[in-house]
Amino acid sequence: MYGNLTKPRRLQAMLMFSSLTMPFSVAADQMSATVPLDLEKPAHAAPWQRYSSWRQTDWEHFCNLRRGVAHPVSFIQTIDTPIKGDPVNGKKLVTTRKKGNCVSCHILPGASFPGNVGINISSIGKWGLPDEFLFNYVYDARIYNPRTVMPPWGTNGVLTKTEVMDIVSYLKTLTQPVKFDSPEQNPEKRPVPVETRDNLDEFENSGMFAVDLGEKLYTQKGPKGQSCQDCHGKPEKAFAKWATNMPKVEPRLNKVLGVEEFVTRHARVTTGAEYLAQTENNLGLAVYLRYLANGQPISINTSDMNTRIALRRGEELVSRKIGQFNMACTDCHVISAGKWIRGQYLATVVGMMDHFPTYRTSRGEIWDIRKRFQWCNVSIRANDLPPDAPEYGDMELYLTVKNNGRILSVPGIRH
Ligand code: HEC
Ligand code: HEC
Ligand code: HEC
Repeated sequence: MYGNLTKPRRLQAMLMFSSLTMPFSVAADQMSATVPLDLEKPAHAAPWQRYSSWRQTDWEHFCNLRRGVAHPVSFIQTIDTPIKGDPVNGKKLVTTRKKGNCVSCHILPGASFPGNVGINISSIGKWGLPDEFLFNYVYDARIYNPRTVMPPWGTNGVLTKTEVMDIVSYLKTLTQPVKFDSPEQNPEKRPVPVETRDNLDEFENSGMFAVDLGEKLYTQKGPKGQSCQDCHGKPEKAFAKWATNMPKVEPRLNKVLGVEEFVTRHARVTTGAEYLAQTENNLGLAVYLRYLANGQPISINTSDMNTRIALRRGEELVSRKIGQFNMACTDCHVISAGKWIRGQYLATVVGMMDHFPTYRTSRGEIWDIRKRFQWCNVSIRANDLPPDAPEYGDMELYLTVKNNGRILSVPGIRH
């Protein structure tokens, strides 16, 4: 059971961490109970603060992955028809990012890279839809379709009634389908982005610096006088497969533990080094431990009862409607997968986990999977959680199991 350790260390560790009466064959879940982990402190810088360059609004009145605040509901709004709003203002609103930003999901005139998560409404004025229907669909589409992907623009307070009327007045003027100058502009024709760069070539992927850093940290003695190598020996041998089984349930912490949080908690009590979540050193070791298992298929074992319980929670979380936009992960990455939200192509669930942590060329930094979750929370205006939140653990497990069999390829590189 101390197979990852060199021989003398193995003995030392057995004495340190296990009782001598331990039976010979121990189930895998009980075995993890012997891995030294700090069980006291959070793995993130506390209190957690959202990245300062991200939108800072506190969406406390909307639910997130932790709090189930009831999203305000709505019934049909009665309005005077025909609606006489200001179509000029309506035209402005549909492309305004802070307002409906309708063009991120609908083809409408005047947008350079519209999306196609919603239907093409560029000639909706000819469809003969009643004003009251149009108003209410924009105000709160859940009236017609409780699971709609479209945010409830009126009920959630993004648009006022007057603004909705302006938008409806504008929509009624639209009679000609948009003609695109190039296929890139048309979300139905836009070429799907394919990542063809060699992610392990440092000239192609600046994220490769993390592998070098992780390799260095592995042999560096911590405040307790020992390095990872002192206990584990050659990393290529000790951790050739380990990362393919992560994340996993850690009963002592009552949560699913990812590689990053493991690094923080394990290092604290072994080398004594402090590698807080999403810091450079944490990412370095997390990238490195996965890099060692590159080329191996992800293989999370789901036979354990606790794992299955966490998976059920994960499934609920990814389909939970959250934030001011009232959207679920599945709205974008399942229902709308393969479509475009403005200029961004929506990834499907399969293929979204095998390359994390990933170097993001658009940001010039490495993001671990939890930072991606945080960003996808904030982008739909839901409060993010700390990186080591148990909810993210359940979701990471659920999504990783969907990627079982996919080949680890870390650090990834993405836009
Ligand atoms: C996150 C994506 C998204 C955004 C942003 C969005 N919509 Fe939609 N919209 C949809 C989807 C998806 C549908 C298809 C029906 C459904 O799921 O309810 C839809 C349907 C509609 C319809 C109904 C058309 C019909 O006849 O069925 C109208 C009208 C509409 N949207 C207008 C708007 C306007 C106006 C805005 C901006 C204020 C907007 N949408 C923003 C996703 C979006
Ligand atoms: C004092 C000795 C010691 C040091 C130092 C140490 N470890 Fe460990 N490590 C252990 C023991 C004991 C286990 C549990 C038995 C096993 O899996 O070999 C373990 C297990 C692990 C595992 C497998 C965990 C699992 O889920 O089964 C990984 C990965 C690991 N260590 C990585 C590291 C890294 C990275 C460092 C440096 C930051 C490090 N270790 C430093 C003793 C140590
Ligand atoms: C409004 C749409 C939207 C919602 C809702 C959303 N995301 Fe995303 N997500 C994106 C966009 C846009 C990207 C960047 C393009 C891409 O890779 O799909 C992205 C990227 C990702 C990626 C990286 C994919 C890759 O291959 O690198 C992951 C993982 C992810 N999202 C997970 C989630 C999870 C988990 C949730 C729910 C908490 C969620 N997303 C909710 C829009 C969304």
